[in-house]
Formats: sequence, C-alpha cells, structure tokens
Amino acid sequence: MTKRSFKRTLVTSALPYANGPLHLGHLAGVYVPSDIYVRYLRQRGRDVISICGSDEHGVPITLKARHEGTTPQEVVDRYHTLNKKAFEDFGITFDIYSRTTNRVHHETASQFFSTLYEKGEFIEKTSEQYYDEEADTFLADRYITGTCPHCGHPSAYGDQCEQCGTSLSPSDLINPVSTISGSKPVLKETRHWYLPLDKYESWLKKWILEDHREWKPNVYGQCKSWLDQGLQPRAVSRDLDWGVPVPVEGAEGKVLYVWFDAPIGYISATRELTPDWEKYWKDQETRMIHFIGKDNIVFHCIIFPAMLRAEGSYILPDNVPANEFLNLENDKISTSRNWAVWLHEYLEDFPGKQDVLRYVLCANAPETKDNDFTWKDFQNRNNNELVAILGNFVNRAVVLTHKYHDGKVPPVSLLTPSDGEVLDQIGIIRKGVEQSLENFRFREAVKLAMDLARLGNKYLAETEPWKHYKNDPERVASILNVALQISANLTLLLDPFLPFSMQKLRDMLRFGETSWELIGNSNLLEEEHVIGAPALLFEKIEDHQIQAQLDKLMKTRNDNLETDSARALKEEVSFEDFSRMDLRTGTILEAEKVPKTRKLIRMTIDLGVEQRTIVSGIAEYYTPGQLPGKKVCVLANLTPRTIKGIESKGMILLAENPDGSLHFIEPAADAVNGSEIN
Ligand code: 2FM
Ligand code: ZN
Repeated sequence: MTKRSFKRTLVTSALPYANGPLHLGHLAGVYVPSDIYVRYLRQRGRDVISICGSDEHGVPITLKARHEGTTPQEVVDRYHTLNKKAFEDFGITFDIYSRTTNRVHHETASQFFSTLYEKGEFIEKTSEQYYDEEADTFLADRYITGTCPHCGHPSAYGDQCEQCGTSLSPSDLINPVSTISGSKPVLKETRHWYLPLDKYESWLKKWILEDHREWKPNVYGQCKSWLDQGLQPRAVSRDLDWGVPVPVEGAEGKVLYVWFDAPIGYISATRELTPDWEKYWKDQETRMIHFIGKDNIVFHCIIFPAMLRAEGSYILPDNVPANEFLNLENDKISTSRNWAVWLHEYLEDFPGKQDVLRYVLCANAPETKDNDFTWKDFQNRNNNELVAILGNFVNRAVVLTHKYHDGKVPPVSLLTPSDGEVLDQIGIIRKGVEQSLENFRFREAVKLAMDLARLGNKYLAETEPWKHYKNDPERVASILNVALQISANLTLLLDPFLPFSMQKLRDMLRFGETSWELIGNSNLLEEEHVIGAPALLFEKIEDHQIQAQLDKLMKTRNDNLETDSARALKEEVSFEDFSRMDLRTGTILEAEKVPKTRKLIRMTIDLGVEQRTIVSGIAEYYTPGQLPGKKVCVLANLTPRTIKGIESKGMILLAENPDGSLHFIEPAADAVNGSEIN
C-alpha cells in the first residue's frame, strides 16, 4: 500500500447510544484516542474536523422507555444532554456533537435510502416474523423472550441468551413470549428491504484485504473472517415505530434499521456543521478515519462502505483504528449490571483531574487486546508518573528559576556537549511521537512524550543546580535555561494528551505558543522573559480516594448478587408437582456436629407424630448449641439418604443469601409440630 497524501482529514467517532451514560470503556476505546488524534492534527495546522453525536434510534431505547413508562424521546433527550456535557467537561473537542433524531439527519438518512432505492440497489423480501396480536405490533428480537434451547435459561432474548452467551434467532426460543403483552406471539409475513452484501463481496475483498493491509491486525483479521465466511443480504428496515421512516409508499410502520441510519449520522452532522460539507465527504483528497470499538468493526468496514459504494458519490474510510475492550477490575464493563465507572460521576468525584484519566486510559488503552482498568493502577500512574516525573520536573524548573533568577529566564553563557545532547533529544522524541500518532499507536506515543519529562528529571538530577549555585552561578543559569526550554517544549508535545495541565503549564511559563512545528526549538523562552508563579500540575491521589471508588464497585457487586438470585427463577411447576411434596413444621430437639466433617450437623427433629434424624450442612453458620428448640420447616417425604454412615430422613428448608450464608425458614412460634405446609 503506497501512502497517499491528503489535503484534509475527516475524523468520526462512533455515535454512542443515547440510552445510558458514558463510561470508561467508551472513552478508552474511542474518544480519548480520537481526541488526541484531532488535537495533534490541529496543532500541526492541518485541515481536520471531528464529528460525533448521539445514536438515538434502535430497539434498546424503546425498551428502556417502555420499562420506565416514558417516551423514547424523553430517554434520548436525557442521555444526549448528559453525554454531550460530560464530553465537553472531559475536554473531548468534537467540532460538532449532533444527534440522530434531528431533522437534518432524518432528511439525510431518508434521502440516502431513496437514492439506493431508486437505483435499484435493494432487494425486497417477505419473511415470517413474530407478531404480538394483543399489542398489534411486530416484535423486535429483543422484545421476545423464551427458554434457551442450549442451556435452558428461562428468559433468553430473541437474539441472544445472556446466560450461556449463544446468539439466537427468535425461532430458536422454546415457548416464546412477547415482553410487551406477555402473550404468545404468532408468525406473520412482513416485507423488508435488504442490502445485497454478497454483491459487494469481491470488491470488499480487494479493497480491504489487498489495498488496506496496513489496517490494525485486529481490524483486518475480523474483516477477513467475515469475508471468508461469505456475505449475505442484510435487512436495512425494521417493523418499529421509532426511527427514520422508510421513505417508500406502503411502508407505514417501518423504519430504517438503526445500523443503516447511524453511520449516515456522520454525514448529517457534517452537513449541520458546515455548508462546505461536501468537500469532506466527496473529495478523494479527504482522508476519512473512523474511531470505533471492536463491536462496530463489521458495520464500519463492511456494511457502511458497501452502502457508500452503492450510493456512489462518497469517499470511503482510509483507516478504521478500532480498539478492543477495556475491562474494569477484571470484569467485563456492563451498563445493565452497572459495572462501570461513569464519566459524569468521575468528573464529580475527581474535579479538575480530567487529564489523569485521559493519561491512564491512553497509557493503558486496549489497542491490541482487551485490557483491564484498575483503580490501583490509576493511582500508581498518577502518583508515580504524572506527579513524580512530569509534575516534579516542571515544578523544580519553575521554583529554582524563582529562587535563583527572580522568576526570569536566565541567560545561557555556555552549553556543554551534554546540554546539547539533551536539547537534541527533543527533536528526536518529537519524530517518534509523530510516527506513533500517525500510525494510531497512542500508548507508544504518550510513553515517548513522557520520555521528555523523564529526560528533564534526569538532567536536573545529574546537573544538580542547587549544589552549584554558590560556586558557579553562570553554570546554574545555563542549566535552568535548558530546563525551562524543555518545559516549554513539553507544553507543546503533551498538549494532545494532557490539554488541561499543559494549559496550566503554559500559564505558569507565560508561554502562549501552541504550534507543533515549534517542538525541538531550544529557544522557545527568551532570556529575561518573566515566568509566572509555581503551581502544582498534579497532586497525589490518596488511598482513601481509591478505597471510596472500590467500595462503590463492591456495593454494585453485592446489589447484583441480590438481583441475580432474585431473578433466576426456576421453570414453573404444576400444583400437582408441588402437592407431591410433604412439607411439615417441626422443632429441633438435639443437635451435634458430625465428627470429621466441616459442615455437617446431625439433628433430631420432633415432627409431632414421630422423631426424625436429619443431617444438614449448616455448621459454618450455626453451632449445635444454638439449635435445640428452634422451629423449622421440613421436607418430610424426601427419599432417605445415608450421609457419613447416618441415615438422614428428610430435609430442613433453608434460605441461601447471595453471599452463600444459610438461614432457617422459621414457622411462627404457635405452629404445632407436624402441621402440613401448603
Ligand atoms: O455501538 C454503538 O454504541 C453504536 N451506537 C455506534 C454507532 S457508530 C455509527 F455508526 F454511528
Ligand atoms: Zn442459554
């Protein structure tokens, strides 16, 4: 692949669904890298725009609204507002953050569909789909639940079983039920429009597998595996009342499939941003880059390009640097399980510390494989890297300048060869950072950029200006000049990564330049230039702050355990099944530990008509001494079992808490021994 040169860059970042808040996974996978990239290009003076917005259609949004007893519009309004503000507060600098419910988008998406429709690019097909007769509506896969044919989970969805992870289609479910009315759905014919992806297969193979060998291995590999399996026509419409209506006569009650309209959202947002939008979308000299997470690869590398190609007048992406997933404390981030660090909460809990999170998410980005975010690592990177290396270096440079030179940039009398080498390194590091950024290797880029701060620290540690001020003030002047020049260079080099702190550092140095092209210059701050007062760039994050975050997650984990145990109901049984169980009340008369076992207690139970011996595994929760006199419920007709040589006749009923602890189900004090439980 020969590297082309382009006149401008169009950067898109996946449009997040407006059905929940943003979390660290979104940031690490998509928005931190895309923001670093566009800030870097802007700093170089390139023509670049950064496009994003809320993805406001799709079934999950309608489900959430139904669940909350509100409208989809209310749901998307809420999350669009929350997320737009969180992005802004976090310093993500989109040129526009639009939304797919607005008029421009509906028109653009509708027009796009019509163009393909008129060109005869779709095939129309009728198929049978589940229909809820009571609610008078077709059912999206997510609106149908039933028993999973693989694991027996009683509430698998029509597209996936969340217990065993298998992808399903609604017809796989045993006893399907509509989640809208609870009724049994029926199959009914419906007509839809399909994009014949198979028609684009050989073109896609060449375009990706031959012409874009430079794409990241995770992206290239996923595309190859899709293409190797062979492409099928994909439906681009749905029976739903929320979305962009299908602009075809007789298509009432049908909308564009959310994955058809969402990527067109990039086009709509650009139209909204500038009347000159076509130069970004229709000129071969524009380089389009899609920043996305790995679950979006097929849509951005195969389906959207096929749509653009079918339409004919648009450019295609030049690269799609998708990231893998970020886990949180060794567990998959999940919105429904609330296992996440929400951006808006982070911003509240750590005010003014946007850069710390930007730094950690970049340094630990899931670029080539899934990665883990831990609060401990967050603390360590802040304390040992941002505070101890970067903050420490610039602080020493500024404080010493005030101490020895009245806050003025000291003159250079003589630069030693090693001073020269240090200054030369700045340009070398710059080249390295450029290389890494141009190739979407953000982890490498930030590490290299931090090398300049490391170099500065090492320089001060070796030259020890504080030791030489008395005997050689001229030398100290030169050393501080070098240290200040490095600091000024840092403001430029680290700006894409740490924009808030570098602004602070620029204020401290009273240095107003931002151009990338100045990096490497050893005279950014002129002699006698007056700098500002020292201020700490970063502060230590204490253990208790980290513990508070871990406690929050622990609470989520416990809440989940409770709801999990509440939710996982077994399959229903008939009254006959139930009435075959002989349940009785009783009282424990004696209890003793079964020797050489950890959990077992042998009890004698008074069941009114008779006395029974029952062995039960409760010794971790009760001592034998606590038991005599306790009232219990007993399954009296359970087949007897011999446990450790003791015949146990029946079973005592116990409730198991989410943490595994066991508790007796106690009948009221006045229940007579041997009473039947019905
Ligand atoms: O996965 C998601 O969150 C989607 N809302 C991304 C859409 S990207 C683009 F196509 F709009
Ligand atoms: Zn299953």
